Amino acid sequence: MRLNIAVLPGDGIGVEVTGEALAVVQRVAELFGHQVEAGEYLIGGAAIRATGESLPAETLAATRRAAAILFGAIGAPEYDTWPPDKRPERGLLRLRKELDLFANLRPARIFPGLEAASPLRADIVTGTDLLVVRELSSGLYYGTPRGIEGDCAVNTLRYTRAEITRVARVAFELARGRRRKLTSVDKANVLETSQLWRAVVTEIGKDYPDVQLEHALVDSCAMRLITSPRAFDVLLTENMFGDILTDEAAVLAGSIGMLASASLGNGPGLYEPVHGSAPDIAGQDKANPLGAIGSAAMMLRHSFGLEEEARAIERAVEEALAQGLRTPDLGGSAGTSEAGHAVRRLLKK
Ligand code: NAD
Ligand code: IPM
Ligand code: MN
Repeated sequence: MRLNIAVLPGDGIGVEVTGEALAVVQRVAELFGHQVEAGEYLIGGAAIRATGESLPAETLAATRRAAAILFGAIGAPEYDTWPPDKRPERGLLRLRKELDLFANLRPARIFPGLEAASPLRADIVTGTDLLVVRELSSGLYYGTPRGIEGDCAVNTLRYTRAEITRVARVAFELARGRRRKLTSVDKANVLETSQLWRAVVTEIGKDYPDVQLEHALVDSCAMRLITSPRAFDVLLTENMFGDILTDEAAVLAGSIGMLASASLGNGPGLYEPVHGSAPDIAGQDKANPLGAIGSAAMMLRHSFGLEEEARAIERAVEEALAQGLRTPDLGGSAGTSEAGHAVRRLLKK
């Protein structure tokens, strides 16, 4: 099979971890007899520096032609004082919107042996295996009006029935392939958007009588997530809550560097680690590439239907960790490239 991939490394450690993830894809392709056609494009701060735009037209066009997008991370301290619409982050937000990537899958599980890497007690994190389905194309991130005028700033939280319906269906379908439990997370005791969210999810749930549905308020859910993570299978939530809860869920997996994601719509999927550009460790060969590598596995599964190949990557990651591979975020001293090499060496058909 031809794997036509647009590679968008972005900024900071995005460049380092994406390099390792792409090398893993290339090795898997060799093993299984596929051809990788990867073109690299600018996004984020790197794109602003080169073209003045965080999402150049050439990059957007290339992503539309590709079957999948392998994305690193964006953001750099030099833009910290820039307004939101000019910042590197806007490039990623625009790309998500342009490609209508409405369902963001963020699995969090603890690999055997990593329990000690989490600041949480091992008896709490052991057995964690959950999937957050985050709505990615609407909500507070995109609602209008928005802006700042003098001493007043406005963002708008808006959801439609159609937007909630389509992401809810994705989450219920995924729950069917897992432990058939879905927790829908909202703030229905305060927000109208959450009341609509809850009503629509309840209605869609009737089509999935085999999936156990519960509703949870986001504040207490944030607590339950780190006190009893095994209580969760699939969590379904809106854009902003999903952003926050998935960084929290990263603590369960040992490090934010472990978390992978898939952003799906009706066209090409986008695959990126959950973490950002980590300016504090960028360019030092310290970043954990396993979240990016896990995202590459998700790409093979969701965009190319290559389940065996995806599993091969996930097995190699498990094996590398079982053999003691630990980057600094996991309490070890392995470098980014060393970690990538370890995974590639352990890849088997
Ligand atoms: P961050 O995720 O970049 O870093 C948070 C902390 O986790 C840092 O201490 C960092 O060193 C560490 N970390 C992150 N990834 C790691 C990895 N793979 N291995 C080891 N340690 C890792 O979040 P931040 O510092 O809040 O944001 C930095 C920049 O990244 C900001 O500009 C932000 O907007 C951007 N960001 C981008 C994305 C994305 O591209 N999807 C996601 C989150 C943040
Ligand atoms: C993420 C990031 C992005 C988000 C930022 C960089 C726009 O934090 O992918 O989790 O908030 O969605
Ligand atoms: Mn985030």
